[in-house]
Amino acid sequence: MRLLFIDACPRADSRTRRLAESRIEDFRGEIVRIFLDGEGLTPLSGAELERREALIAVGDYSSPCFRYAKEFAAADEIVVCAPYWDLSFPSVLKVFLERVCVRGVTFSFTETGEAVGLCRARRMRYFTTMGAEGLPYDFGYGYVSALCRTYFGIADTELISAEGLDLEGRDPEEILKAVAEGPRE
Ligand SMILES: Cc1cc2nc3c(=O)[nH]c(=O)nc-3n(C[C@H](O)[C@H](O)[C@H](O)COP(=O)(O)O)c2cc1C
Repeated sequence: MRLLFIDACPRADSRTRRLAESRIEDFRGEIVRIFLDGEGLTPLSGAELERREALIAVGDYSSPCFRYAKEFAAADEIVVCAPYWDLSFPSVLKVFLERVCVRGVTFSFTETGEAVGLCRARRMRYFTTMGAEGLPYDFGYGYVSALCRTYFGIADTELISAEGLDLEGRDPEEILKAVAEGPRE
């Protein structure tokens, strides 16, 4: 069993990462961690996109540009941890996901244009923490969950969120502890 741990937490002492780590403690198997801040990721440029499309067209997936997509497709379980930034998540996660969304590796299309997932994982857990609480917007988990369900064929997605960590008078450690010890599947 292989768990892919996608760490989109830029801060060295990230509380979001700590929360996610506490909830995978009992995972028995290999954990592959990708710390996005250290990957030197850049958005797909026009030239890169052209090269990538040409390789996909001939079914040649040997280039390193497909490594994230292959890693994602082969994992038995996906964990994403990302702090709540500007109503969603740090942009490095979007850049990473651009490189995960590869036709022929993580998804495909039927002749009638429907997406078919090619990923092995059956579950994606998304961990986040936020300064405020009760915000009515979900452009973070909602987006990643939609990608998983619509394209990757990962139907089981779960949000684990600790809110109000930066509100005055709150004890962030208490909030984190309650969520870390919260209900599990
Ligand atoms: C760049 C940036 C943007 C943020 N945007 C929001 C926001 O839109 N809403 C909110 O409630 N908190 C926001 N916060 C606060 C973080 O969500 C909160 O401090 C979170 O716990 C940080 O997680 P970390 O400890 O894993 O870095 C923001 C923090 C930063 C640094």
